Amino acid sequence: MEHAVSTRELTRVFGSFTAVDRLSIDIRQGEIYGFLGPNGSGKSTTIRMLCGILKPTAGSGTVLGFDLVREAEKIKRKIGYMSQKFSLYEDLTVYENLDFYAGLYGIPHRERKKRIGEMIDLAFLNGRERTLTAHLSGGFKQRLALGCAIISRPAILFLDEPTSGISPTSRRNFFRIIQRLANEGTTVMVTTHFMDEAERCHRIAFLSEGRLIADDTPDNLKNSVIEGCLVELDIPGALERVEEIAGLPYVKECSIHGRLLHVLLAAESQVEELSRQTGGRAKVIRPSLEDVFVFLTRKEKRRGS
Ligand SMILES: Nc1ncnc2c1ncn2[C@@H]1O[C@H](COP(=O)(O)OP(=O)(O)OP(=O)(O)O)[C@@H](O)[C@H]1O
Ligand SMILES: [Mg+2]
Repeated sequence: MEHAVSTRELTRVFGSFTAVDRLSIDIRQGEIYGFLGPNGSGKSTTIRMLCGILKPTAGSGTVLGFDLVREAEKIKRKIGYMSQKFSLYEDLTVYENLDFYAGLYGIPHRERKKRIGEMIDLAFLNGRERTLTAHLSGGFKQRLALGCAIISRPAILFLDEPTSGISPTSRRNFFRIIQRLANEGTTVMVTTHFMDEAERCHRIAFLSEGRLIADDTPDNLKNSVIEGCLVELDIPGALERVEEIAGLPYVKECSIHGRLLHVLLAAESQVEELSRQTGGRAKVIRPSLEDVFVFLTRKEKRRGS
């Protein structure tokens, strides 16, 4: 088996609306594969098809070598899945929730205690075994949900926005666990809106209106999407001057980053001219993933309109 996930022209239509449009992706084993895109771009719909929960309308795919359409039941049993609205039993303790999921996955009784202990360690839940789930903070709940999703030691894990609504510290802790799992060979497909998380993925796919518009490593995306010289422009009243600067003949793109502007020029020789003409301070910078996504999204909008 070469790929943990492989799809060809995978499509899902709801009525007359195409939510996922001929998606072809390959995910290698042990890879952390980030799935990014604006709200409604089809990320959750794709994950639900890959988990065998939602039937594709057209196209094909395999997960762990099993066919998405014909072997959906097998897939469901082999994977770990944590949905955007994961469900824990609030009136059970941490231990009881893990025990419940262990039962659901058919883990034999004699093995359960050990397995639950492993999950408690992995999810940093030590000392909270007897805490009622309702009394846990968001970050702890998220990690418990992860523990429940992987108690069966799945070879592949699907995470749909696992870190939305938790503190930055909790997000970092959560992602550390993900990285550890991947290092140990688990394939992870994760959707996120956070660029710092995207940065830690081995590979990133970017969806727009159901279509794949980029699929590469973070470094390659930064080098290939941003064609030209990216400049940070420090200028008073930046917000009011975006349009004016975007309209300059040698400016390809201009976007707001906090109180600064990011300006894409065709060549480095134009940096001085930009400074002179706008009265701002211009500094050449390395593109971030954030820049990549701003530019990708704009390019798509222009293409569509
Ligand atoms: N069961 C359904 N019936 C009709 N439309 C649906 C259904 N499920 C999803 N959609 C539509 O398909 C599109 C893609 O939805 P999806 O949930 O996959 O997006 P997403 O990328 O996960 O967005 P978000 O970032 O907000 O989670 C949306 O326009 C959504 O309204
Ligand atoms: Mg979603």
